[in-house]
Amino acid sequence: MDIRKLTKNSNEQVLISELLANGQEHLFAEWDAPGVNDNVKAAFLQSMTHINESYPGGLAGYISNARKLLAEAAAETNPFGGFIPEQPDTVDLTRFNAEYDHYEALGQAHFSKTAVVLVAGGLGERLGYSGIKLDIPVETTRNTSYLAHYAACLKAMEARMENPKPVPFVIMVSEDTNAKTRVSLETNNWFGLKKEQVHILKQELVPAIADNDGHLALEEKYKLILKPHGHGDIHMLFHTSGLASKLHGQGIEHLVFIQDTNGQVFNALPAAIGVSVEKGFDFNSIAVNRIPGEACGGLAKLVKGSTEITLNVEYNQLDPLLRATVSPEGDIPNTHGFSMFPGNINVLVIKMTSYVRILERTRGIIAEFVNPKYADATRTAFKSPTRLETMMQDLPKLFGPDEKAGVTVFDRRWCFSANKNNIKDAAAKHAAGGPPESGATAESDFYLAGRMKLAAAGMAVVPANEELICGIPFTPGPRVLLRPSFAMTLAEVREKIKGGKISGEATLILDGKDISLENVEITDGSALVIKASNGAKVTASGLKIENDGFEIVPLTEAERNSVDTPEYLRIRGYRIENRAAKVCEFTQPGTYTL
Ligand code: UTP
Repeated sequence: MDIRKLTKNSNEQVLISELLANGQEHLFAEWDAPGVNDNVKAAFLQSMTHINESYPGGLAGYISNARKLLAEAAAETNPFGGFIPEQPDTVDLTRFNAEYDHYEALGQAHFSKTAVVLVAGGLGERLGYSGIKLDIPVETTRNTSYLAHYAACLKAMEARMENPKPVPFVIMVSEDTNAKTRVSLETNNWFGLKKEQVHILKQELVPAIADNDGHLALEEKYKLILKPHGHGDIHMLFHTSGLASKLHGQGIEHLVFIQDTNGQVFNALPAAIGVSVEKGFDFNSIAVNRIPGEACGGLAKLVKGSTEITLNVEYNQLDPLLRATVSPEGDIPNTHGFSMFPGNINVLVIKMTSYVRILERTRGIIAEFVNPKYADATRTAFKSPTRLETMMQDLPKLFGPDEKAGVTVFDRRWCFSANKNNIKDAAAKHAAGGPPESGATAESDFYLAGRMKLAAAGMAVVPANEELICGIPFTPGPRVLLRPSFAMTLAEVREKIKGGKISGEATLILDGKDISLENVEITDGSALVIKASNGAKVTASGLKIENDGFEIVPLTEAERNSVDTPEYLRIRGYRIENRAAKVCEFTQPGTYTL
């Protein structure tokens, strides 16, 4: 093949020769003669150049990685062969006790050395929302979007530092989410964050692979099939952008990784960071108790001779691994009904020094895997092209004997409730006994976490009965929104709330640092909203709130099907209306009593 006839660009000629040397003649075999379709050819070469530059090791590296992993998959190499699963090193923070308070205080003191990393490149196909997931309100009493809530948490972290400085916020986007994420930040004035504290990294698609020989798959003559590479791309981007080293140089000691729709996550972060600091964990997975067999990866310590790694093992691999090794009955419950292997929710606290070291060693390509669907038992042909993937939680696969991975277990609804499924699928999941993980359950759990804070502070909380809205369970109250500005830790809530009672479908919203409640009662269905700007010190004492509050109004079928109904309501099946909430707003510095 005469490469000079394909392109005059010398860089492209080098790339083509590399591809030919790696068995990719088919990409060029059907090319038209020079002068025919030259524009399309140029676009094809540009797209390959782009991928070549964005993947460490280039396309040649990708093809070589693919061949190796495909050979292992075809040979059915068991990734956990020879490993014995054991319970991981776990800190149990499922109860709000002195141990919890200790770690929380330690973590809060460490906010100034922490950066938050949000992976937000996912398509959200299961939810089917037309915008980005980050723009969806996590709660519809006040319509706070996930992105606004996360930004408020970062600002609240900053406000609690001895010497306040912005918390670096790294957002990974993809082609599907990049433009809308930027628009959301810009139109909302960066949600009060400083533009310089936000670092946007964009993940690229990778080429699909047609067969075990690593031939890149073509969609048409001049177009590769491209597919997502997974959220593990964040590690590669931290390396290629140089951002990991930069943040390390700025004194950041821990990175906290969160996902796009988990409004609960910041509840657990202070204590989880505290655990990482005290235990010296290089990698700390925030986890929840898991029922054996539940469709959620289990965290296990895998031991082979002197090698030990603590890893997420997918639930469908965990049971066979246990049966083949230590437990002929598979994954069995302990006396509390939980598996010995806590559930992974993909919230990670990673120590910066070890992270930078590993990125340098691996160029950020973290434990890629391939999952081809074979056409038949010979495992030679695929039903459709496959691709290499990577998951952020697989980082410990690259740990050596000196790196320590551990697990911190929290109450599930305190730290995790995601919005992943559309309303129909969520109802079907609930009917089948599984978690719906929908807009409605995420909102219901968001209020629940607020109630947990009040109860921990000693307020009497009488919850309403669970209802089904569009076949999805929702607890209508009390709906409690303790804004990040009000409190970032349980200790703060305890300091600011004394006694009192809240019942049924009542609502309480507290927004502002210097608000305190003493023996305040909010009766079923009533609502109290207090908003205090900086410098306004508000004490509500001995109040009994009785009003028409906010009301949950299920959407009619016509409203559910109407494009005039905002999509964020259609994905839940209800709206919340303000009937006569008591709203007290203090915009000037001063001392106020209610
Ligand atoms: P999800 O499991 O929610 O997947 O990803 P998804 O791709 O967003 O949604 P579905 O599966 O299409 O319905 C968990 C987290 O990882 C991010 C998501 O944005 C979410 O925060 N993610 C996922 C990425 O950043 N990049 C990816 O390639 C995949």
